[in-house]
Amino acid sequence: MADHEHETDYFEPAGWEERYAGNGEIWSGRPNPQLVAETSGLTPGTALDVGCGEGGDVVWLAQQGWTVTGADFSANGLARAAQHAQQAGVADRTDWWQVDARTFDPAGREFDLVTTHFLHPPEAGMVDVTRRLAGAVAPGGHLLVVGHAPSETFAHLDAAKARAMWHAEDLLPALPDGFEVLVCEDRPRTVEREGRTMDVEDATLLARRPA
Ligand SMILES: C[S@@+](CC[C@H](N)C(=O)[O-])C[C@H]1O[C@@H](n2cnc3c(N)ncnc32)[C@H](O)[C@@H]1O
Repeated sequence: MADHEHETDYFEPAGWEERYAGNGEIWSGRPNPQLVAETSGLTPGTALDVGCGEGGDVVWLAQQGWTVTGADFSANGLARAAQHAQQAGVADRTDWWQVDARTFDPAGREFDLVTTHFLHPPEAGMVDVTRRLAGAVAPGGHLLVVGHAPSETFAHLDAAKARAMWHAEDLLPALPDGFEVLVCEDRPRTVEREGRTMDVEDATLLARRPA
């Protein structure tokens, strides 16, 4: 979460629509490191990326052979993501779904991989979101949830944003019975943002639904 994110509402679609309506990319376009680390050994199948933003992870997964649905509550974000998939030549391996993760209902759809990176609904809402996302994992499939763990780097954020951060272990109660936990840890990482170096921790939960 960057400093500028308090300028508009961080938790509702309007703020993100505004952000994605402007000029210039917001994210790097590179895949998130925990996604690369945890999925590189998996056999590609179908994937769902919730809170996909500009589609960096969707494009990378498609390039690895996955058929990917990118989901976000921002229509402008999805439009940008679709354009990036087109430019990368993977449009035929992608589709798009406008959903609010807080009310997400898989509606019978199941995916071999359900992933989300840096989705931070308010008031510890990620536990319920994780429960909802787990409902979209196919038998034998994986759920990968990654976000910002609270840390010194984010000490300046307002209380509402601080409450929206979570540790990997906070999400464990959301896993349905039988899911096997493969990774549950906050992983230190150094990032560069707007010319500054910051130490962050990626809260990382990877679980597998039994086949
Ligand atoms: C911090 S960005 C991360 C984007 C991308 N996953 C990445 O790592 O580059 C968070 C994204 O989640 C989306 N988002 C935030 N709250 C959401 C919600 N409740 N339901 C669906 N999407 C949401 C925003 O529109 C934004 O694209």
